[in-house]
Amino acid sequence: ISVETFDFVAFGGTGDLVRRKLLPALFQRDVVGQIEGPTRIIGVARAHMTREEYRAFARTAIEAHVKEAERDPQALEHFLDRLDYVAVDALGDSGWADLGKLLNLEPDRIRVFYLATSPDLFGGICQRLGAAGLVTDKARVVVEKPVGKNLKSANVVNKAVGAVFPEQSIFRIDHYLGKETVQNLMALRFANALFEPIWNAAHIDHVQITVAESLGVEGRGGYYDTAGALRDMVQNHILQLLCLVAMEPPSSLDANSVRDEKLKVLKALKPIDESNVDHLTVRGQYTAGASEGGPAAGYLEEIGKPESRTETFVALKAEIGNWRWAGTPFYLRSGKRLAQRCSEIVISFRPIPFSIFGDGAGPIARNELVIRLQPDEGVKLHLMIKDPGPGGMRLRRVPLDMSFAEAFAVRNPDAYERLIMDVVRGNQTLFMRRDEVEQAWRWIDPILEAWAQAPDGPKAYRSGTWGPSAAIALIERDGRTWHEDGA
Ligand code: BG6
Repeated sequence: ISVETFDFVAFGGTGDLVRRKLLPALFQRDVVGQIEGPTRIIGVARAHMTREEYRAFARTAIEAHVKEAERDPQALEHFLDRLDYVAVDALGDSGWADLGKLLNLEPDRIRVFYLATSPDLFGGICQRLGAAGLVTDKARVVVEKPVGKNLKSANVVNKAVGAVFPEQSIFRIDHYLGKETVQNLMALRFANALFEPIWNAAHIDHVQITVAESLGVEGRGGYYDTAGALRDMVQNHILQLLCLVAMEPPSSLDANSVRDEKLKVLKALKPIDESNVDHLTVRGQYTAGASEGGPAAGYLEEIGKPESRTETFVALKAEIGNWRWAGTPFYLRSGKRLAQRCSEIVISFRPIPFSIFGDGAGPIARNELVIRLQPDEGVKLHLMIKDPGPGGMRLRRVPLDMSFAEAFAVRNPDAYERLIMDVVRGNQTLFMRRDEVEQAWRWIDPILEAWAQAPDGPKAYRSGTWGPSAAIALIERDGRTWHEDGA
């Protein structure tokens, strides 16, 4: 279904996110005909550049990030025609009048201001958009994560953005919520009668959420070193996944119904602070090793700061203090330069209460539901069955296996494609509300503070491994193990 004609203004228009994600996503939506009419895409950054130069930049970006088979040359020319560029000093005065002139050619159009910049600029840009009279009733603003560095700075950003845009026009993006497999979590839980009755501590032993990356910080060291894995991945993506697994059924898919339920989960997270941080968290930092088939430098060499204590890996045991989940820990881990790129959620059910099978039948493994977010998106339910054949009753663990690629011969759209269109439609269900972001920081802040007080920094782990051995000990202490990929 096509969306209403809009103007898309990308601040940070020559940056990494616009190049890798936003331009390719807009192009894909244009190709399928979802963007109709004279929609314009306006890059905004400090550098002086002509419209033609910006189009050349966009062409290179799309050629690098969209597969050739999906790049119809005519469609690409048509898309590039939509592009324009304005040089604006985000925190100064220059350029705002030019931007205003261009936008005000179409005063009644939906305007999307996408702030793909450093979060320090969010407040200043919004204030200038307001002062320049560009915030119409149909304007929306998209802010990238992380919103702030802690609760205090998140408040400052939220307040500054909120002074110019009403909450229903603010879209705090967490691109994990736009991933097909993440949305499928809701379908799995709430479009099937099977799971909900057993979706609780009485039947689920524990949950694991892993977001593992094989890449390092990839030239983003300047930002990353001020963030670290806890802020970069856990405060947003992983806590959002945890919320979708743990929340009560919302009464509808309406944005506030879903966000109310997620907020309750965040509020129920048991605090981790200096009293239990050593027991419940492990942080690591990669050293030189091997990754993606070649040698890889260590984090400190990569960023050229030998004294950095920034964590590139984190594992933690989270507990949710409510009736549904008391007694079922959620083990969370995320890191860079790990053995492989693999994101998944594992729901590990409790063991059977009693076995009628003798020792000869072999061990009886627990049932596990594995939701594979990427790559090789799919859902697996591990069951025990009888090993076929006449050899007596021997048991075997087999997966009921649903691979998205095999089941559906369709392209898996990038998360940003879905989310940008949701912004245009004004649908906030897959975006974070202010109170959610702040509540997530309320849980994260004491962990950061406790780490800052600790005499030791993160534990070293070799690039290409699964993180420091302490992360394995964190779960094995409880008689459990991390799920092995493909198992
Ligand atoms: C971003 C983080 O939000 O997510 C990056 O800032 C990380 O550090 C990225 O690499 C991972 O996203 P994806 O979609 O590749 O899993």
